[in-house]
Amino acid sequence: MRKRVFSGVQPSGGLHLGNYLGALKHFVRLQSQYECLYCAVDLHALTVPQKSDSLRAHTRALAAAFLACGIAPKRHIVFAQSAVREHSELAWLLACVARLGWLNRMTQFKEKSGKDREQASVGLYAYPVLMAADVLLYRATHVPVGEDQKQHLELARDIAARFNDTYGKPFFPLPEPLIAGIGTRIMSLRDASRKMSKSSVRGESDMGLIYLTDDADAIQRKIQKAKTDAAPLPREPQGLGNRAEARNLVGMMAALQDASAAQVLQEHGGQGFAVFKKALADCLIAALEPIGKETNRLMADPQELDRVLENGAQRAQKLAAATMQELRPLMGLWG
Ligand code: AQP
Repeated sequence: MRKRVFSGVQPSGGLHLGNYLGALKHFVRLQSQYECLYCAVDLHALTVPQKSDSLRAHTRALAAAFLACGIAPKRHIVFAQSAVREHSELAWLLACVARLGWLNRMTQFKEKSGKDREQASVGLYAYPVLMAADVLLYRATHVPVGEDQKQHLELARDIAARFNDTYGKPFFPLPEPLIAGIGTRIMSLRDASRKMSKSSVRGESDMGLIYLTDDADAIQRKIQKAKTDAAPLPREPQGLGNRAEARNLVGMMAALQDASAAQVLQEHGGQGFAVFKKALADCLIAALEPIGKETNRLMADPQELDRVLENGAQRAQKLAAATMQELRPLMGLWG
């Protein structure tokens, strides 16, 4: 069987450094070993309120960011989830396989629904079933997962196993996690107890996030203003123990340089934050400035981006249709 990767990013706002270091950077690498499908998961974004115009615009911007980071849309597939209707169909069929108890255990729903759980959408609750459908629709063998998605991938495996057992054949492969991004959890520059998140800027300042389209000035300003304590950096990772802000900035540097925290501290341990922040900002600018410029260049030609998405959707749809044509009679359905 061919090794196939599926992963998605929600077009729920401008992409940020967390999305880059936790996902996109790895997506680019995986292209040499796997057949990859990378998706703007707009149906997932709808689990919380979205404005229609911004959702479409964010989907296009996300495609631009994928391409600007180095995803090759001719060799691999880049598309919008809602353009392939089979995602929704399979999500319903798998919702009838998944057990309520399995979904009740999902911690992300508890975090995202907050205090007023009764007002959360049913979609937000069922989100992991749609994610399972995304992956299984293409019989993906591997899924790059960040820390926060590990539980959802486990659920996708449970659903696939239950389905195979019920229908008496190994219809779906059990998708394996690819753990390249694990350990890279980028936190807000203003509050290191919260993850850097697209939705965190709704109604708030964006000083906690670095967008992939931020220019050198903005990056420098945001890093300079990032919250820290007053002590110099420790020389060993153990010294980061209860220093969440320092740990976050060191983690960023490590992820950018493909190094460990220990290696970063070997070079920068003992420095004050003024010096370290300057080095970090330089490193961020070197990594992000070309991506931001290329994203803006691609965004200037929306018709071309739409063509890329359309072409990706057609190729994804062929794969999806093949799965569903086999699956419907297996389940006793028509069509
Ligand atoms: N702060 C982060 N650190 C490391 N990885 C992160 N990812 C997101 N934030 C961080 C990774 O990016 C991929 C795509 O995420 P997503 O957009 O599908 O959903 P998300 O994780 O919910 O991202 P956001 O920015 O927090 O979006 P909103 O605010 O809309 O919910 C995932 O692989 C994720 O791990």
